[in-house]
Amino acid sequence: MRTIINYLKKLRANSPYAVWLLKYTKPYLPALSLTMLFSIAASLISIGTAVVSQQLIDNASIGKTITSNIVLYILCILLMQLIQIISSMFTVIIQEKFSFGIRKQVYEKILHSCYHDVSKYHSGDLMTRLTSDTGNVADGIANIIPRIIILVVEFLASFIVLLCYDPMLAVFALLLAPVGGILSIWLGKKLKVLQTKVQESEASYRSFITESLSNILIIKSFRTEDYSTEHLQELRDDRMKWVIKKQRMGLVASSGMSLTFQAGYVLALAWGAAKLSTKAITYGTMSVFLTLVNRLQSPILGLAHTIPQVVNVLTSAGRVMELQNLPVETELKETITPQNVGVKVEHLSFGYSDDVLFDDASVSINPGEFVAIVGASGIGKTTLIRLILSFMNANAGKIQFFNDKNEQVETNANSREFMSYVPQGNTLFSGTIEYNIRMGKKDATDEEVYEALRAAAAYDFVSELPQGIHTVIGERGYGISEGQAQRIAIARALIKKAPFLILDEATSSLDEKTELAVLEGIKNFSYHPTCLLITHRRSVLAYCDREIRIDNKQITEQPM
Ligand SMILES: Nc1ncnc2c1ncn2[C@@H]1O[C@H](COP(=O)(O)OP(=O)(O)OP(=O)(O)O)[C@@H](O)[C@H]1O
Ligand SMILES: [Mg+2]
Repeated sequence: MRTIINYLKKLRANSPYAVWLLKYTKPYLPALSLTMLFSIAASLISIGTAVVSQQLIDNASIGKTITSNIVLYILCILLMQLIQIISSMFTVIIQEKFSFGIRKQVYEKILHSCYHDVSKYHSGDLMTRLTSDTGNVADGIANIIPRIIILVVEFLASFIVLLCYDPMLAVFALLLAPVGGILSIWLGKKLKVLQTKVQESEASYRSFITESLSNILIIKSFRTEDYSTEHLQELRDDRMKWVIKKQRMGLVASSGMSLTFQAGYVLALAWGAAKLSTKAITYGTMSVFLTLVNRLQSPILGLAHTIPQVVNVLTSAGRVMELQNLPVETELKETITPQNVGVKVEHLSFGYSDDVLFDDASVSINPGEFVAIVGASGIGKTTLIRLILSFMNANAGKIQFFNDKNEQVETNANSREFMSYVPQGNTLFSGTIEYNIRMGKKDATDEEVYEALRAAAAYDFVSELPQGIHTVIGERGYGISEGQAQRIAIARALIKKAPFLILDEATSSLDEKTELAVLEGIKNFSYHPTCLLITHRRSVLAYCDREIRIDNKQITEQPM
């Protein structure tokens, strides 16, 4: 008993996919069992139909009335059709529910994982995992696993009957089963490597399409349309190569397995014939034996054909699991009263790689201060902001928020509650201007939306638009100017009224006059946050209490 338990434990440890799949399948087990029952009922009725048709023919041949047989036959067919319709509806619903459920979980997981880890994946790759891979897993759960279970049940039933009939014959019929099993495991492993390549090439293909469509302007301005199409073709060819290799290997696997079992069938046939020749069995036994061996064959061949599909499911499960295993970002429960918040950076060391950007750097920003961060391009200004926002963790040192009540908390995902951020570059979503601004505060009143727009010096241009705040803007702010998009992003940050505001070159596209209007607007806004501004412009410095410079892996105070 202990050996069996140990074996099961070992199997569990070695089958993370199965455990993972089982975990996600649990809620769907009752519905899945029902579809399996439907399938079993449908196959039983199909056997019944065969019996009815045989009786129909027998009755007709001896001149008996066949009306009841015909009615029964039609009923059987209608019932079978009905069961098939219900069962296929059920399967589709399970598949949709499951794929949506798993997609939602992976999507949530991506949103709650460390930004730094998620950013290592191309968005096209993430898309492939969220769509194609989760689709494969859902197909596995809703279709392939039930099919396998039904085939195994059919196989076991036939085997048990055969075993009762003649144990020796049953064993003979399965003589080559271990060979087939080992062969399928070996080929399955090879197939999995190829399927991983197929999914990876699919990810590159999708990544390229996503990226080139979002950068269509660059392709057009550099007249690289043909080059891009050629590159797409190359990626397509690469995918084709792996698909063909995988298909070939899949055919070898399923044909190898079915040939092995057919060889077993021939052996069983020879054994039966030998027994028949010595009159050890009758012709009747031989015919029953052949029928049963035949019935063993079909589920086995069915199973052989599911090998490549099972491999697809496992490969995709692995790719989805990889995302599920991403480290979740730290969220501390304790927080500080979100008023008059400052930040202390102490002995900070950080580098994306061996290249160190900060080495034992320290700085303190007091509550209510307007502080400019300056430094050469590529020196680490945005990186410092990302560390303060806890998008990444420092290699050494501490970043702590504090307030004037002497409360302190180390930066973590939760501290973003009291921070507002305007990132570098265009970060607007497609939708109305109002939708974009309300992202800063979902339940904001219209008055609050207009107040934020006024503070961001965006009110005038928005009210001149025919549809005002209801104007729909395209992807990445398409339809409005870069500087207008920047002001909407600032309004989105201001409406949150967070006590700690970070602007990363948020006014870089504005002319000097508008930039000063924005800075005035922020200074005179109805709340007064602590503000960190990254800037390359001298004009902005006039609005700041202090200037700190990042240079030589240190953060130093600059004389104003
Ligand atoms: N995700 C990343 N992985 C590896 N290196 C990175 C990553 N992001 C930035 N870097 C590198 O880190 C350095 C600092 O980048 P950062 O974006 O902080 O510069 P910056 O001071 O904000 O520059 P700019 O003024 O041009 O915006 C750069 O050399 C950059 O190449
Ligand atoms: Mg930057």
